[in-house]
Amino acid sequence: MTSIILDCDPGHDDAMAILLAVGNPNIDLLGVTTVGGNQSLEKVTYNARATLEIAHATNIPVHAGCDRPMVRPLKVAAAVHGETGLDGANIPVPTKPLDKGHAVNWIIDTIMSHEPGTITLVPTGPLTNIAMAVRLEPRIVSRVKEVVLMGGGYHSGNCSAVAEFNIKTDPEAAHVVINENWRVTMVGLDLTHQALCTLEIQKKINSIGTPVSKFACDLMDYFRKAYKNNQDFVDPPVHDPCTVAYLIDKSVISTRRCPLDVEINSDLTLGMTVADLRGTEPSEEECHTQVATKLDFDKFWNLIIDAIKRIG
Ligand code: BDR
Ligand code: CA
Repeated sequence: MTSIILDCDPGHDDAMAILLAVGNPNIDLLGVTTVGGNQSLEKVTYNARATLEIAHATNIPVHAGCDRPMVRPLKVAAAVHGETGLDGANIPVPTKPLDKGHAVNWIIDTIMSHEPGTITLVPTGPLTNIAMAVRLEPRIVSRVKEVVLMGGGYHSGNCSAVAEFNIKTDPEAAHVVINENWRVTMVGLDLTHQALCTLEIQKKINSIGTPVSKFACDLMDYFRKAYKNNQDFVDPPVHDPCTVAYLIDKSVISTRRCPLDVEINSDLTLGMTVADLRGTEPSEEECHTQVATKLDFDKFWNLIIDAIKRIG
C-alpha cells in the first residue's frame, strides 16, 4: 500500500488521476491539495471536490493551496481545459465543505505526523505548494518517501518548444523541488504522450456503464477535441494518472536515472527541464533524480479501467 498526497489542478487528466487513486486498492489517498494552474484556484478546488463526490470519496480531505506561482502571474490553460477547468463534464455541486487550513500547512503537518519514509508526494500541477512547503519546513525533504511528479520532458515542450505547462507555469517552484535532495521521478511529456486515450480504450471505459465511466468519457470527449484543436493530436494524452499508475505498479513505466535541472534564467528556454542523459546511468547514491521513458500502454489503461469499475 502506498500512501500519497495528490497535489493537483483539475483539469481533465488530474480528475482521471483522482479516479485512479480512489479506485485502486493499493493506493491510500491521504488527501487532495489544489493549486492554481489549469484554472483559477477556486475553480480547480471546486473540481477536485466534485470529482471526489462523483467517485464516492467525500471522506478524502481537500485543502486549497497557492492561487498563483511564486514569482510570475498565473496563466491558466483554458484552451485545453475550458472555462471551468473541467469543461464537457456534468459535475455535481459538492456537498462536503472544503476542509479548513492552507494546503501547504496541511502537507507539512501530514508529513511530519507520519512515520518518516511513508508518504509519497504526487504533484500533477505547478509545483508552487510543494516548493512553499519545502521552504517553510525543510525537514519534510528527508521524511518524504519520494516525489513522483507530472511535468517537464527531456525532448520537447507543449507550452513552448522546450517547456511543459506545469513547469513553465511556475519554473522557480520547479527549480526548488527538483533541486532538493529527495528522490524525484519526473513523469514528463516523453512518457505521457504515450498515454493516449484511443477510441478503442474509450469504448472500453464507456461499456462499464456507470455514472463514473460516463464522467470519464465526457472528460475524454472534450479532451480529444481540445487536443486536436490545440496540438493536433488525434487521441488526447492523459498525462497526470501516469504518476499514480507508476506507484501502483512500477513495471508500468520504465525510468532512467540522470541529473535533472530547470531553466529559470532564459526568456527563450524558461521552464525547460534539462536531463543529462550522457554516459552510463548513475547509481541511486550518485543521483536523486530520474525521468520516465517508456509506458506499458495496456497495463496503464487496465489500471484505469479497473479503478473505474471498482468505484462502481
Ligand atoms: C499538464 O498540464 C496540464 O494542462 C495537465 O493537467 C497536465 O498536468 C500537461 O502538460
Ligand atoms: Ca494537471
